[in-house]
Amino acid sequence: MTDVRPAVYSGPQRVFSGVQPSGDLHLGNYLGALVKFVAMQDDAECLYCVVDQHAITQWQEPAKLTAQTREIAAAYLAAGVDPAKAIIFPQSAVPQHTELAWIFQCVARVGWLDRMTQFKDKVGKNKERASVGLYTYPVLQAADILLYKATHVPVGEDQKQHLELTRDIAAKFNHDFDRPGFFPLTEALIEGPGARIMSLRDGSAKMSKSDPSDQSRINLTDDADTIASKIRRAKTDPAPLPDHIEALADRPEATNLVGMLAAMTGTNPASVLAEFAGSGFGPF
Ligand code: TYM
Repeated sequence: MTDVRPAVYSGPQRVFSGVQPSGDLHLGNYLGALVKFVAMQDDAECLYCVVDQHAITQWQEPAKLTAQTREIAAAYLAAGVDPAKAIIFPQSAVPQHTELAWIFQCVARVGWLDRMTQFKDKVGKNKERASVGLYTYPVLQAADILLYKATHVPVGEDQKQHLELTRDIAAKFNHDFDRPGFFPLTEALIEGPGARIMSLRDGSAKMSKSDPSDQSRINLTDDADTIASKIRRAKTDPAPLPDHIEALADRPEATNLVGMLAAMTGTNPASVLAEFAGSGFGPF
């Protein structure tokens, strides 16, 4: 872990991340986030939150939300997060997240939130009917992180823009209140082949909890037979696997499967291609 604290910031290195309890976790959540949570717990102070207040920006059945919140905490443990090393907690247990979010809503600019692509993707043409919470959600995310003055946040690539906003809010707060270094400029930890796992049915769409097709994702609760069948039925293309990464450029499904294997086996796409060059998808 590189030290990214600015000279004026003297707090400790600290890791924060969160997962929404808005549905079953899938392989993307595991490789993009949970694997990194476990890897970091020996090196730094870590807080892993189940962000239930983020989930309610879209309708949730209250009883189901409680159950799902526990299931995400269980997934943290199952993935290897050790409660003796890392703090696991639900966001709603700490009211200061929403208190700080209000202050940050007065720091962040409407123009900044208007640029958030995830909001635009989620609401499509139905912006008028979206909750205000869904719009201001990235500000709550900044509050989650900066409440603990976290210096590092392990996440998948889809969270990159939200982490940039977090830095913008920290910098403007420090500047406006003339407190250089009060909040750290948090670093997103995104790198690695698991940072962007795509749908098994469409290599140009992210693997997602909300995709209506269960065949598009590998759920962490799927059994081995179900996983094998989903992989066998995953969309591919007719060409054999190439021997170098550049040749995967226009082959999103192949890129995804190679990336998944690399992430699962702790290698990189180049090593996977070195092993499977010339092979069709059956043997692969
Ligand atoms: P959420 O609940 O959608 O996803 C949880 C984590 O999984 C990652 N992820 C993926 N990684 C790779 N490939 C994919 N297809 C994929 N899909 C999801 C996400 O990047 C994330 O790391 N806004 C956040 C939750 C949040 C948060 C925070 C995260 C709230 N406050 C503070 C970090 C710090 C979200 O909706 O993640």
